Amino acid sequence: MARPEDPAARWRELVEVVEDARSRYYLHDAPTLSDAEYDELYRELEALEAAHPELVSADSPTQSVGGAASTMFAPVEHLARMLSLDNAFSDDELAAWSARVERELGDLPELLCELKVDGLAVDLVYERGRLRSLATRGDGRVGEDVTFNAQFMPAIPAALTGDGGHPVPSLVEVRGEVYFPTAEFDELNAQMLEAGRSPFANARNAGAGTLRQRIDSRQADLEAMRAKGSSTVARLESELDLALQRLASLRLVVHGVGVWEGHEPARQSEAYTALAGWGLPVSDRARVVANLAGVQQFVAFYGEHRHDVEHEIDGVVVKVDELAIQGRLGSTSRAPRWAIAYKYPPEVVRTRLLDIEVNVGRTGRVTPFAVMEPVVVAGSTVSMATLHNQDEVLRKGVLIGDLVFLRKAGDVIPEVLGPVVEERTGAERAFVMPTHCPSCRTELAPAKEGDVDIRCPNTRSCPSQLRERVFHVASRGALDIEGLGFKAAMALLDEGIAGDEGDVLGLTAEELLRSRFFTRDAGGGDRVLTANAEKLLAELATARSRPLWRVIVALSIRHVGPTAAQALAREFGDLDRVAAATTEELAAVDGVGPTIAEAVRDWFGVDWHREVVEKWRAAGVRLAEERAGTGPRPLDGLTVVITGTVEGWSRDGATAAVQERGGKVSGSVSKKTDFVVVGDNPGSKYDKAVSLERPILDAAGFAVLLAEGPDAAREAALAPG
Ligand code: IVH
Repeated sequence: MARPEDPAARWRELVEVVEDARSRYYLHDAPTLSDAEYDELYRELEALEAAHPELVSADSPTQSVGGAASTMFAPVEHLARMLSLDNAFSDDELAAWSARVERELGDLPELLCELKVDGLAVDLVYERGRLRSLATRGDGRVGEDVTFNAQFMPAIPAALTGDGGHPVPSLVEVRGEVYFPTAEFDELNAQMLEAGRSPFANARNAGAGTLRQRIDSRQADLEAMRAKGSSTVARLESELDLALQRLASLRLVVHGVGVWEGHEPARQSEAYTALAGWGLPVSDRARVVANLAGVQQFVAFYGEHRHDVEHEIDGVVVKVDELAIQGRLGSTSRAPRWAIAYKYPPEVVRTRLLDIEVNVGRTGRVTPFAVMEPVVVAGSTVSMATLHNQDEVLRKGVLIGDLVFLRKAGDVIPEVLGPVVEERTGAERAFVMPTHCPSCRTELAPAKEGDVDIRCPNTRSCPSQLRERVFHVASRGALDIEGLGFKAAMALLDEGIAGDEGDVLGLTAEELLRSRFFTRDAGGGDRVLTANAEKLLAELATARSRPLWRVIVALSIRHVGPTAAQALAREFGDLDRVAAATTEELAAVDGVGPTIAEAVRDWFGVDWHREVVEKWRAAGVRLAEERAGTGPRPLDGLTVVITGTVEGWSRDGATAAVQERGGKVSGSVSKKTDFVVVGDNPGSKYDKAVSLERPILDAAGFAVLLAEGPDAAREAALAPG
């Protein structure tokens, strides 16, 4: 790397990496830097040029919008230049921009806030209302002609419809962003994996790669092969089919106008109304705000709701709304002064994969996980991420020592996306799944032939599994024992206070007094229980009378989480009855099914598992549903489906209210459903209820059902539709 005292050398170095990164991003749809790293290098270049203006030359990346038109497509010259945007990476930078605008104008004009769509910039020209060209941005002056592909994209109107308020101009150039909707992207990547192809790194790449396909030449190839009677026809056909399907998934959101012949609107927000009136897709999330506080509110809102949007966003774009004022502020060669992009903290970063280790879970599953150089992503420091299983490691193609892309979207679990292959030195090495358990040295094996998951068969006494199981008993979804964290679980086992999870619920003060972890020196060599130990004993007493479903979750039966456990508890009401049920009886329970049924049967077939249950029984753990018994059960035998948000009720509350009265709550509407309770924003269950003509209750009808029973509720039901 160039020494800091040699700015010219550092400048050349930065120009080179920035140019290289741009070409990989724009031309090859395969970036090797994260967006955040690119932004940082770009900023350094800007700062260096500000300090040494003599270094700036016309071909510096800071003087252009980035990107270029490849030679794969015919070039199209845009009618007006397509600019880029300056970025703000903090509230301070945003405030500095608004202060500059205010200084320039005397006061701050109204501002239009929009989402910054992380897609592919496009330019559309409509002549006499018909689409003349669809082009990528290219270098901002000349883009790539992808008009041929537009006919396969329902999102791109072939013709604009007239609208009384705003006549369609004889010539109009609009700009927008083409994107791959996140949900479709996830599906596409799953398909790619299934077909044994490598998935796209992100939705933006998938979108860009999809739009920039030469569909015309593929069609021509196919025709030629057909004429020859070649055997590759079927393959080409299916590939073309897939390509067209992908094109059809692309969507567009328009966010600007280049050239507008005729009477132009006065505001950007008005232009959007006109564009929408002609049938162009405009975001309905744009808001005009009066001041910086309004902008900050918008930024904060979408910072929270970033993943509720159907496409990826990487920030918020703030624009001066009035077009005349935009004109007064003008633009640099690269970006307008009347707009700024506020960028959210990065959700994808690069870091070094230091090692791949394995963890043995509570059901014996051995999962590899990535150990990485700690890195801040989406606001928190991450140094580990699960890799699920050996297949996943192979599929991601990561080697130990690789530089990897790491993603953490909002609160979501960190995920290694894949390696930066270009950065390999040759010193990387492949991960090898251990043949023996790292915890107890037992030979590992798949539970069943063909399973991807490898397990440690020493389920009873593998220290790692034991620890995880004891820890799980205390977890929030199980018996919720706050005082029994991972360290406490380890101490109980390591000090021999508990032999396994069976011993935990009946722990006594005497037993805890034998522990170092749960006691402290009271002077004179006497040891007394710590406050935490006292707390744990109190919590254990509460845990012993938790609802049956929590006890079932605490048993660590494979595949049995809260949903299945609730179904079992509801249906059988008693753990002994669950233990005695046949696989068929178990599988018949709504919400259980054959896999879970088999896992439950297998579990109760193991003698030490039954010993755990007996130890819990002896400790006084309640192993049966506490029947309200005394209360009336007006909903006995009835099945109710709840959909949407029912006013005045949480989902759990509404479910419990039905169950307390003897009713069953089901997740799907069928002919056997007695009532469908419909709140705000109901899903497809509402439509199903209508088509199956099931009685539909609103919040008021639900109240009648609970208070007066099914007959009264049938009368209160809404007419279908
Ligand atoms: S306006 C002259 N609005 O972000 C101003 N751009 O980083 C042109 N982008 O090249 C851009 N969402 O492709 C604008 N709501 C939005 C946008 C948006 C995404 C893209 C656009 C631009 C890039 C700059």
